[in-house]
Amino acid sequence: MKMKLKLIGATVSIVLSGMTMNAQDGASLFKQTCSACHTIGKGKLVGPDLKGVNTKRSEAWITSFVKNAQAFGEKDADAKAMITEFGYPMPNQNVSDADIKAIIKYIGENSPTEVAQTTETAAPVVETPADPALDPANANHDDILAGLMLFSGEHRLSNKGPSCITCHNVLHGDLIAGGLLAKDLTKVYERLGAAGINGMLSAPPFPAMAASYKDSPLTEKEIFQLSAFFNDAAKNTIYQPQRTYNDNLLLYGGGVAFIIIASIILLMFIERKRKCVKEDIYKRQIKAASSK
Ligand code: HEC
Ligand code: HEC
Repeated sequence: MKMKLKLIGATVSIVLSGMTMNAQDGASLFKQTCSACHTIGKGKLVGPDLKGVNTKRSEAWITSFVKNAQAFGEKDADAKAMITEFGYPMPNQNVSDADIKAIIKYIGENSPTEVAQTTETAAPVVETPADPALDPANANHDDILAGLMLFSGEHRLSNKGPSCITCHNVLHGDLIAGGLLAKDLTKVYERLGAAGINGMLSAPPFPAMAASYKDSPLTEKEIFQLSAFFNDAAKNTIYQPQRTYNDNLLLYGGGVAFIIIASIILLMFIERKRKCVKEDIYKRQIKAASSK
């Protein structure tokens, strides 16, 4: 219930912050709102590559899709097929028609070529690390451990954002069970890869997460360490204790403990009752005997 309220609160704050966002140029809008899930000509991420989408679809289609993607999933055959392919529907984006126009223009301008490098500071977008030292595949044990600590909250994020474990779970022998509000991230590295995770964490596209890190963004180093941890977790899933087993143990353990406690209470109750009854009879008998 509390979680739900938090989620609503997060959504409201996102909507509000979206409302104060004025029309900006397509490049920064794309980076801020779309780049966590889409690239233009760099391959699919969480969603499809948008290269050439400006000619593939009409402006009207894109405009209403971007604002109502969730509803499209029910009525539009193409959207339905994409949801099957990508695993979930695109979240509705709170952008104005003018913003979408600017974004479409930007997509058009950049479709045949690479995404232009921009220098906006609006969102702390970190591009896929070109530096091999920041490639999670090359991470050493210390980086992985640092990522684990950040995920679990044992080490605070430097900008004081909430730890990931409040909402997410990762199957790992050194971790307690995480939150169930959001997806299990044990295998997220296989699904999104370093670039996808980088996008997600630089400009989180989901209201609950965006609200959590809007004023306390992750640093490039933290994103690298978390990615290293996710990479390691995905590779080592088979060595981890199965959470379902633990859950069952807890469930059965709890059940057994309940039965034991209930029996003790019952026994105490019976014992007391027996004592009372006996005493009653005893007193009455004494009384009866003495009044004779
Ligand atoms: C949270 C991730 C996410 C964000 C953020 C996001 N999208 Fe998407 N997008 C998706 C997914 C997933 C799909 C495919 C599933 C579907 O159709 O709903 C998609 C599909 C699309 C399509 C249809 C592509 C085609 O080939 O027909 C367009 C257009 C699109 N997105 C534009 C945008 C724009 C513009 C933004 C930014 C304002 C944006 N998206 C933000 C995830 C996202
Ligand atoms: C307030 C809750 C919250 C916190 C805190 C949070 N997330 Fe999320 N995260 C979400 C939600 C909601 C989604 C959307 C997908 C879903 O429903 O699971 C999401 C999605 C993701 C995804 C994409 C998953 C996928 O398979 O598409 C990644 C990666 C991710 N989060 C990583 C992190 C990391 C790393 C942290 C810590 C730095 C973090 N999250 C903290 C709520 C949260």
